[in-house]
Amino acid sequence: MDKPQPPLRKRSIQERRTWWTKTVAPDQQQAEFWTQTGFGLNLADTLVENAVGWMPTPLGIVSGLVVNDHSYEVPLATEEPSVIAAANFAASLTARAGGFRAGASPPLMKAQVFLESTKNDAENALELERSALETAIRSSLQSLESRGGGLRNLSWSRLKEPALLTVTIDVDVRDAMGANKLNTLAEFLSPLLEAITQGRKLMAILSNEGSRRTAWSEVCLPFSLVARGTIDGQEMARRVALASQLAQHDPARAVTHNKGVMNGISALALATANDTRAIEAAAHHYASRTGKYQGLSHWECGGEFLKGRLEIPTMFAAVGGTVGVHPTAQMALSLLEKPTAPELGMIAASLGLAQNLAALLALTGEGIQRGHMSLHDRRSQQPGTSP
Ligand code: MEV
Repeated sequence: MDKPQPPLRKRSIQERRTWWTKTVAPDQQQAEFWTQTGFGLNLADTLVENAVGWMPTPLGIVSGLVVNDHSYEVPLATEEPSVIAAANFAASLTARAGGFRAGASPPLMKAQVFLESTKNDAENALELERSALETAIRSSLQSLESRGGGLRNLSWSRLKEPALLTVTIDVDVRDAMGANKLNTLAEFLSPLLEAITQGRKLMAILSNEGSRRTAWSEVCLPFSLVARGTIDGQEMARRVALASQLAQHDPARAVTHNKGVMNGISALALATANDTRAIEAAAHHYASRTGKYQGLSHWECGGEFLKGRLEIPTMFAAVGGTVGVHPTAQMALSLLEKPTAPELGMIAASLGLAQNLAALLALTGEGIQRGHMSLHDRRSQQPGTSP
């Protein structure tokens, strides 16, 4: 019988690799080959816990996405066939109409400290100590403050059910995603908040709600550009606008509509080693900000044009965290000419709108199966996966 092994976290990366290849693959050479990449194992071991290797995802390029008169080559990491083809098609279509106009808010993130059992006049006590609290916050955010970011607002509110006092700190995080900075800040501030309110911290954490860190993108396409096969441009534009309206009213359709919007955005997030889950959670929350889950993009006809707009939260980092150490992310950002975080957000919003346009044109034109599924089908023609 094999002797009991220590838990994975107590083994070296080499020991975990031996366990991995023995456990998952009768053909150990294959397991070695497919989960080891040029990055080497030490980087995997640095980035995550209990690392055993890599899970490579295809990386492809959307060529010529025009945003604010600049043509970008946009790297996407995705396992789904047709995502890049669709975005590529929409990028070249929209480029013929001058591309996307995009903008972004300042990169504002918020941290929350939730306190229980606070004294009745805790809000007054906080107000009296506001200036001391702001000084403490600024001292903890010195490097951000020196780069033009830092504290933007400090506020509090009381929840009745459950009975908690929430202290919210709004911070301009510049080009970082902000999670580490804000979590550190919230925890650093907690003892001071406990002392002032005579309460007890339940938790201190950033919020991934991103309605104050958004990017938006717009495009205006002459009808003639959106004609498909035998269907003229005016009719196609009408159908796209109707599909957009549908996603405002039918939440079941809105989820799929937004999945299509996020196809490109999540793939850009992955290619740049950004936090795909934070970006997606914020997008879906934003889609339900009216109290009803709705499509994120809007299309309408005006004059001889089909006009589209998308606004989404963009918790993209351009520096720091995994973004700063992952070699592919660094190359992806170089290809995008080292954008700032808000610029990356604008590219993401434009890409999301392009992806959505391609989906709606296909769905309401020839149907999705012809182009989309024929690309999916290429998978079944793949030869075996031996190294
Ligand atoms: C597939 O990945 C995405 C679509 O389903 C999006 C949509 O339905 O709008 C085609």
